[in-house]
Amino acid sequence: MAYDVERIRSHFPSLVEGAAHFDGPGGSQVPDVVGRAVADTLTSAISNRGVVTSSERRADAVVVAYRQAMADLLGADPRGIVHGRSATTLTYDLARAMAKGWGPGDEVVVTRLDHDSNIRPWVQVAEAVGATVRWVDFDPESGEMPTSAVEAVLSERTRLVATTAAGNLIGTRPDTAAISAAAHAVGALHWVDGVHATAHVPVDVAALGADVWTCSPYKFLGPHCGVLAADPELLESLHPDKLLPSSNDVPERFELGTLPYELLAGATAAVDFLAGLDDLDTPVTPETRRARLRSSMAALEKYEEGLLARLEPALRGRRGVQVWSNAARRTPTLLFTVTGRDPQDVRRTLASHGVNAPAGSFYALECSRHLGLGDAGGVRVGLAPYTNRQDVDRLLSALDDVC
Ligand SMILES: Cc1ncc(COP(=O)(O)O)c(C=O)c1O
Repeated sequence: MAYDVERIRSHFPSLVEGAAHFDGPGGSQVPDVVGRAVADTLTSAISNRGVVTSSERRADAVVVAYRQAMADLLGADPRGIVHGRSATTLTYDLARAMAKGWGPGDEVVVTRLDHDSNIRPWVQVAEAVGATVRWVDFDPESGEMPTSAVEAVLSERTRLVATTAAGNLIGTRPDTAAISAAAHAVGALHWVDGVHATAHVPVDVAALGADVWTCSPYKFLGPHCGVLAADPELLESLHPDKLLPSSNDVPERFELGTLPYELLAGATAAVDFLAGLDDLDTPVTPETRRARLRSSMAALEKYEEGLLARLEPALRGRRGVQVWSNAARRTPTLLFTVTGRDPQDVRRTLASHGVNAPAGSFYALECSRHLGLGDAGGVRVGLAPYTNRQDVDRLLSALDDVC
């Protein structure tokens, strides 16, 4: 089926304002169906989850549908899907629960490629229990983080390896399956930050072998919340602090307080929309969704690669432009700087042309510093399902004002 970007764009009310949105890695635009699902759920007859009234059953159905949708998106077990306010919150919460079983002599591995949300929680819980942190560097020139760099710091004492499926600053996609295998070979768990990757590529957590995968629906056309996918047995082994009367079941044990049913319904609608990207005419059903996602995300990946092939050489060819996204395998996310120009100035110039491409380190602070860009980072240009050729051309002509 064809990837019809103009039909896809017609579902995004926000695009009417006219900006070219290259700010998707920070948070994507949202299609009409997602907004409707949020509003409809919020204003429907809905109560707390239960089985007695129809409004209780409605809330329950929303949660069940959400877990199945996320499981389909990620190739995971719906019984291991945990909702959270954000990926950051989920990582902190689970890190604290996991670290209850760690102590001096135990080791946790983090990388300088990662967003700080998959670094600092581990550093801080390790410090709290006296465990040791081992750091993995990427090569700043190539942007590559080979599996051997991770293997070099593994030992029998490693309890957990935290890596990213795709770096949100320069897009590098390390070999997640190989890192999982290496972590498991020493008896460690592999925690994968899938927040940036999930918006761009088909995901199969079971095939990758990751023990935990986090993502955030607001990066893939959904509402602002976070998702964690893990083996339910692993979740059973963890005991987070919780209220006495709240459920001790998995995954509810990790979802403190009442769930935001409207956001869960919106996240489900986002997965359904993603599943239909390559064929908007054929409705997505729970039975077809996993297969549809496989094909639509592959179509999206191909579409974004095509746009990147138009954008990247033109960007690299500009005088004074340095592109920092250089890994062989990466998402369509380009970080660049312009000699002698403050990234924030470049960003403002682009914004004056209706081109939204923010600048900074985007919380991948270790990555920015390791690249030699300090805390200022660079300008980040990210492609999204609704980006079209006109957006790319507009960015390139706006750059005439910069370099
Ligand atoms: C790779 C990556 N990990 C984690 C996060 C944090 O996600 P959340 O806002 O859901 O905590 C982001 C957000 O930019 C990200 O890009």
